[in-house]
Amino acid sequence: MNMIKFTIITLFQEALKPYLESSMMYKAAHKGLVEFDFVDLREFGLGPHKSVDDTPYGGGDGMLLRCEPVFNAIESVKKKNPKAKVILPTPVGDIWNQDMARKFANGNDSSCHYVILCPHYEGYDERILSIVDYKVSLGKYVLTGGELPALIIIDSVVRLIPGVLGGENSAAIESFSDGDNLEYPQYTKPYDFRGMTVPDVLLSGNHGEIAKWRKSHSGKAK
Ligand code: ADE
Repeated sequence: MNMIKFTIITLFQEALKPYLESSMMYKAAHKGLVEFDFVDLREFGLGPHKSVDDTPYGGGDGMLLRCEPVFNAIESVKKKNPKAKVILPTPVGDIWNQDMARKFANGNDSSCHYVILCPHYEGYDERILSIVDYKVSLGKYVLTGGELPALIIIDSVVRLIPGVLGGENSAAIESFSDGDNLEYPQYTKPYDFRGMTVPDVLLSGNHGEIAKWRKSHSGKAK
C-alpha cells in the first residue's frame, strides 16, 4: 500500500486545514492512506519580526519571499527525509493535469513524500527554484498565493490513491482517466424532473447499448 505524505510549507495553515480535515481528505488520512503536516514558514523568518520577504532588487512593486527562510524550512524537512520532493505552485510552472496527478499518486520518482511550498506576496526570489523539483501551474491566471493550488494538487492526487474512493473503479472510469475523454452524462432519480426525462436507453437494462450510448456521449476536454 502506498502511503503518501504531504508537508505544506505556508504562512497560512488556517486556510488549508478546514479542507484537509473534511470529507475525502479526512477519510483518506483517517485510513492511513495519506498524511498531512505543516511547516510554519514564519518560524524560519529573520530578525525580531520573523520577516520572510523583502523588496526586489532593481525596484518594482511588492515584496518577494526571501531565500533564507525558504531554504531553512525545506532543509528542515529534508533532514528527516532526504528523498522528499519539493513542489512549487507558480503561474510559470507546467500546467497540472490528470497524468501528473496519477504519477504523483503512484509515488513518482520513488518518493512518496511531497513538500509543497506556498509562496505569498508578489513572488519569490528566483534562486528558490534551485531547491524545487516541480514547478506547477494551475492555469493561466494569477492567484494571491500557493495555498489554493496546494489544495487542488493534493485533492487530485489523494483521490487516486487506491482505497480512497468508494468504488475502486470510480477513479478509473471517470473524467480524464482516458486521455482527454470526459465523463458521459449521468442521471439519477427522478426519471422525470420538470419535464426533463432520462434517456430511455439507460433504463433498458441492455448493457451493450448503454456502453455504446455512453461512449458516443462522452465529451472531450477543451
Ligand atoms: N500562484 C499564483 N497563481 C498561480 C497559478 N495560476 N498556478 C499555480 N500557482 C500560482
